[in-house]
Amino acid sequence: MIGELPEYGITHRPRRLRTTAALRQVVSETSLEARHLAMPFFVVPGRGEEQAVTSLPGVSRYSVDLLLPQLERALRAGVRTAVLFGVIDAGGKDAQASRAGDAEGPVAQALRAARAAFGNDIVLISDVCLCAYTDHGHCGLLHEGPHGVRVDNDRSLERLAQMALVHAEAGVDLVSPSDMMDGRVGYIRRALDRAGHSEVGVLSYAVKYSSAFYGPFREAAGSAPQGSAGAPSDRRSYQMDPGNAREALREAALDEAEGADMLMVKPGLPYLDILARLRPATALPLAAYQVSGEYAMLKAAAAAGAIDEAQAVHESLLSLRRAGADLILSYYALDAAEKGWLQPLPQAETHLVVGRARVDLRTWTVELENGRREQLSDRELGILRLLARRANEVVSRDDILDEVWGDDPFPSSRTIDEHVVRLRRLFEPDPNRPAYIHTAPGVGYRFTPAGEEDK
Ligand code: PBG
Repeated sequence: MIGELPEYGITHRPRRLRTTAALRQVVSETSLEARHLAMPFFVVPGRGEEQAVTSLPGVSRYSVDLLLPQLERALRAGVRTAVLFGVIDAGGKDAQASRAGDAEGPVAQALRAARAAFGNDIVLISDVCLCAYTDHGHCGLLHEGPHGVRVDNDRSLERLAQMALVHAEAGVDLVSPSDMMDGRVGYIRRALDRAGHSEVGVLSYAVKYSSAFYGPFREAAGSAPQGSAGAPSDRRSYQMDPGNAREALREAALDEAEGADMLMVKPGLPYLDILARLRPATALPLAAYQVSGEYAMLKAAAAAGAIDEAQAVHESLLSLRRAGADLILSYYALDAAEKGWLQPLPQAETHLVVGRARVDLRTWTVELENGRREQLSDRELGILRLLARRANEVVSRDDILDEVWGDDPFPSSRTIDEHVVRLRRLFEPDPNRPAYIHTAPGVGYRFTPAGEEDK
């Protein structure tokens, strides 16, 4: 009866093992680390290019020179794997995807530059598909058959293999065919071996569904099927039907038999069941792709204040690991690794309060008194955290250098001052009479959490 204890007590209480954070950690079944993540990058021709992708807030396309610092950032955060997608101007595209096999194309150049800069510290994966190089936007070459204009499976293989060879020559670790042509893994494997690239592996998009969740990617890569040349405006004649699960096992088995080194399921979260079914069906490592639409949904929900971004991202990535992914491709990879979203943060450490403003330590946003939000840089957050940790003490510029810049090249102390000036501008009601961050002239800074006039 409600209100009475059961006569015989409750023997089995799963909650016992959830009592403390330490205990929960002991029985935790799934780990999520930076090494499990791969960051997709869009590479464009030219120099000095950083083009924001409107439908993917926080994601940009980079020319090779600006890609390198991003790769360095990834390595520093422990994300060792980069997946490169090439994007070229519409003028360079044709029906034959001629530029897909261009040894001077953006991906080939990026591979050479990244290998030269980072040696074998980095794992480089390249997308092998024709959709960003064909003027009609399909993943293969077209032909007219008995059912109308369709993608010509066998004639597309040659171009795909040529693309894979160019990437192999440029220093890729794994080529990653995402075109969904039958037999392409075996064809590419043989082409690589014949050319002496037996050490280059194949990460196959074995199980790739025809999905609405690729929308933002197609904007980023300019790779949407155009519905031109009499061809369909969707990819249903080569990508998988979202309702099919057995077929996923068949696709995976074929790619494994053709020599794939690793298999991918894509998209991620909507297809967790597929990932979980595939896990016991193969001994190969599995990858899952948290695709552009999944990222865009999380971003939109977070911006609307509907979910806690850090926790939702943590949970989505963890779920992909739990379902069986060894490697997760995610546009969140860098953010999640840098901002500490891979471990669930204890509630108490999620915010730092400065006067009436709150700093969200996981998203690096400042929520100001008037409801406005401002984004902090990693250096600004680092300085603020250090000052807060040593509240009421004078913290020297050397301490800031040690703690926030570490092994990175030293900035001039002007730069440190500039960061502090920005922090002040955010938090201080009157910048001429600082309340929280005080300058100790020639020495450093002091933070008083309760707010106090400089004396
Ligand atoms: C190219 C390719 C696509 C994605 C990866 N490789 C798009 C498509 O098939 O249209 C989607 C990735 C994403 O949405 O993040 N074939």
